[in-house]
Amino acid sequence: MQYEEFRKAGHNLIDYITDYLQQAEKKPLFKDVEPSFLNDLFDEAVPNDPKSLETIQKILQEKLLPYCTHVNHPGYMGLITPSPNPAGILADLLAAALNQNLGAYSIGPSATAMELRVIRWLNDLIGYDEKAGGNLTSGGMMANFIGLKLARDFTTGNKAQHEGLQDNWAVYVSEERHVSIDKSVDAIGLGRNSLRTIPTDEEFKIQVDALEAAIEKDKSDGIKPLCIIGLAGTTNLGAVDDLEPLHTLAVREQCWFHIDAAYGGGMLLSKNKNLLKGLPLADSVTIDPHKWFYAPLDCGAILVKDHDQLTRSFGIQHAYLTDESERKNERYQFYVNGFEQSKRFRSLKVWMSFQHYGKDKIGKWIDNNVAQAMHLHSLAVNSQDFESATEPVMSAICIRYKAEQLTNEQVTRLHINVAARIEKEGKFWFATTILKGKTWFRINPVNIHTTINTMEALFQTLREYCREEMKKIKTSAPL
Ligand SMILES: Cc1ncc(COP(=O)(O)O)c(C=O)c1O
Repeated sequence: MQYEEFRKAGHNLIDYITDYLQQAEKKPLFKDVEPSFLNDLFDEAVPNDPKSLETIQKILQEKLLPYCTHVNHPGYMGLITPSPNPAGILADLLAAALNQNLGAYSIGPSATAMELRVIRWLNDLIGYDEKAGGNLTSGGMMANFIGLKLARDFTTGNKAQHEGLQDNWAVYVSEERHVSIDKSVDAIGLGRNSLRTIPTDEEFKIQVDALEAAIEKDKSDGIKPLCIIGLAGTTNLGAVDDLEPLHTLAVREQCWFHIDAAYGGGMLLSKNKNLLKGLPLADSVTIDPHKWFYAPLDCGAILVKDHDQLTRSFGIQHAYLTDESERKNERYQFYVNGFEQSKRFRSLKVWMSFQHYGKDKIGKWIDNNVAQAMHLHSLAVNSQDFESATEPVMSAICIRYKAEQLTNEQVTRLHINVAARIEKEGKFWFATTILKGKTWFRINPVNIHTTINTMEALFQTLREYCREEMKKIKTSAPL
């Protein structure tokens, strides 16, 4: 390897990234090209013609960069992927160079200590005591999956790891769950028919009475509760279930209590952290630093109140991995406390973010995002033609154009067409969603660069385009 070339290209790349981050706002947020055009751009056989790093950077500038979704653009308020904080970006570069493998202590001793420290920080933020443990994962999907596996093992007296599931079990969660719960219930061998999705109230929180009724019905049919899942920050609206009654039910039924705070966990750094005061009641909690702690992908976390359950669930040891049994107390082995064997050094970017900005500054970014959502809510409810699903408690907000004269199908079409037009223009990006049978714009800044002015501009655009779309629909299909 030519290290001088590496040094020069590295400096150029950092300059390039700095300019990119500073100028993200000037780029089209989402380039409207056909997927086949992009596939053609990269259509080549395995290269065997060495190119300089400088040449490769030029190719990337031409083929890759213009067609990225620029989540650093202030108008990105879509599916939950943050604008990454710059300290975290540098951390990932260093992590790649060091290539520590966190599966086994011997391939990353100091990195293991840092990983454990970051897990401890997250446990401190939740309010878990010294007995707690956890693991950093690829994201909330994997963290929820591990949470469900812990639930399965605990509730079956740690028999299911060996025997599989013998009896009939069910898992309970609100209808506003993330799809990762459905996938996890399948992946732990229970089958999706065993997931009970409980209706929510007008604030989109689980209806506790309906949950109790579902448990009673199952029990009378010989089906036992395996896990109750609370949501602390739903994907659509940031709604937080009433966690105390869920905990009481889980204790009564002697089953696991998991909380999905993959997105909402960021509120632990907010001035309104009280919203999450119920988190330490859970046996396990999912929090994604790669969501609202603004860490670059990937870094999710499963936090577990009783660390020993992690070892009970994952403590299989292969003959070639003997370190653990010999030096049990000195060398922490992630491979007997989690799924992954080879494991990325994820904590470095979270550690560097906290060291560089401090938790109050990150909390300020979070509070800004919450204030932006609240501002959009006020604009919507104070207008004649928009409604808001509920007052946002976090930064996720759903609003819709009322269009009362249109049919349900026409209103859905209107929202999808407006979102598609805005995507094409490349100034904003957000999703659409369905809540209680209606289509909504789902707007969710998890973005350091978004401001109140961005929200004003977005609302103006939505208003104008919804009106235009309404006119088009009316003229093309008279009512
Ligand atoms: C509440 C919730 N849980 C879990 C997930 C899945 O997280 P990830 O995409 O990091 O796997 C998401 C993703 O948006 C989420 O909103």
